[in-house]
Amino acid sequence: MPIEKINYKINSDNFCILYTDKVEDQINKALNLINSDKKILLLYDENISNNLVSDIFYELKATGSKIYKKKIKSKKKNKNIDNVLKILDFLQSNNFTKRSVLVCFGGGVAGDVSALVSALYMRGMFFINIPSTMTAIVDSCIGGKAAVNYKNNINLIGTYYHPKFVFIYEKILNKLPEREYLSGFPEIIKCILINKNNLKSIIDKNINKILRRDKIFLKYIIMKTLKIKIKFFINDVYENNKRLLLNFGHTFAHSIEATTDKIIKGDFLRHGEAVGIGIISELYLSKLENKNKKLKKNIDININLIAKILEKLKLPSKLLISKYIKQQIISECYTSVFKDKKKISTRPRYIMLSNSGDYIVKEIKNLDNINLVFHKIVN
Ligand SMILES: NC(=O)c1ccc[n+]([C@@H]2O[C@H](COP(=O)([O-])OP(=O)(O)OC[C@H]3O[C@@H](n4cnc5c(N)ncnc54)[C@H](O)[C@@H]3O)[C@@H](O)[C@H]2O)c1
Repeated sequence: MPIEKINYKINSDNFCILYTDKVEDQINKALNLINSDKKILLLYDENISNNLVSDIFYELKATGSKIYKKKIKSKKKNKNIDNVLKILDFLQSNNFTKRSVLVCFGGGVAGDVSALVSALYMRGMFFINIPSTMTAIVDSCIGGKAAVNYKNNINLIGTYYHPKFVFIYEKILNKLPEREYLSGFPEIIKCILINKNNLKSIIDKNINKILRRDKIFLKYIIMKTLKIKIKFFINDVYENNKRLLLNFGHTFAHSIEATTDKIIKGDFLRHGEAVGIGIISELYLSKLENKNKKLKKNIDININLIAKILEKLKLPSKLLISKYIKQQIISECYTSVFKDKKKISTRPRYIMLSNSGDYIVKEIKNLDNINLVFHKIVN
């Protein structure tokens, strides 16, 4: 399939996403363009198949660069500052420079750790991202959010740092385990909704293509989602305005994720799975916080459609847990909602579907509604 590109600019810096099934030539061009010293640290996720890691390793090696390889542990608990320091140590003891390159081949966890390392090492080294899960492909590989978790606070320590190049490596898609593939779709659904595109025609009508991993459809939907994401962050990297809408579902998703990680077990839910439940939760909240009957009806239609799509994609629309811990989960989720990083007063903010059909950032008016939402979605 032909290589497809998205070029974008942030201030005066150029960035590029390439959708390709062969990275060698492209990486070579990229290394020349950024005038790197051709010294590369390849950080790769421990669960990617050896064949794929070797493919990338040899494609990087073919550029004539000196390659160092380091396996990175997956799971959200490893998205921590100790791992960042260990990698920084490695770079320093092997005399990497500002013109060396860090290539990350991994999911959102490896990507976030790598982005933060790249931002910190000598105040910024070249960073190339080759995302390896669907969540990373359609969401975390761009936008520059570089952070690690700290003391059960998601993404507490971080900054913004953008990969100069992102390679969407097509060969990954058909080998990706089902969970790491499907759990990326809630972020796609989110982008389609906030961009006011038709979810029914774009996703619901194409469920079979999604399930059988149709190459042409995947290329279309991945590039479409990345273009939407760019549109929302390009003029608001630091998240004061339009970019906030990319957080649709995330006030609740982060609280559910942090709670289940703490009370049940780490990585009980993939980030994307929590986002699916979070989208439904924030639509319920929109309904509770509004009186307009037409809007309430519209929200119900949306909830039904999204829940149906999630079910077809084998994704949860509710949090199903043992009845013995239900109360504990709900009360921890409630507390956790107040850790929302979008908060500008004592009240958390969320993304609300408004009368006009637009999504807008809103403070939660009635805090009792938070519990009502959790009682609806925790079963
Ligand atoms: N920076 C951002 O803008 C942003 C956006 C969304 C999510 N995130 C972060 O991303 C993380 C979630 O990302 P994720 O869902 O990719 O999680 P992840 O990186 O933990 O990957 C999920 C699982 O898939 C495995 N894996 C990765 N690639 C694989 C492959 N090709 N084959 C087989 N197994 C593979 C990993 O080892 C892990 O077990 C969260 O920490 C979240 O906060 C960041």
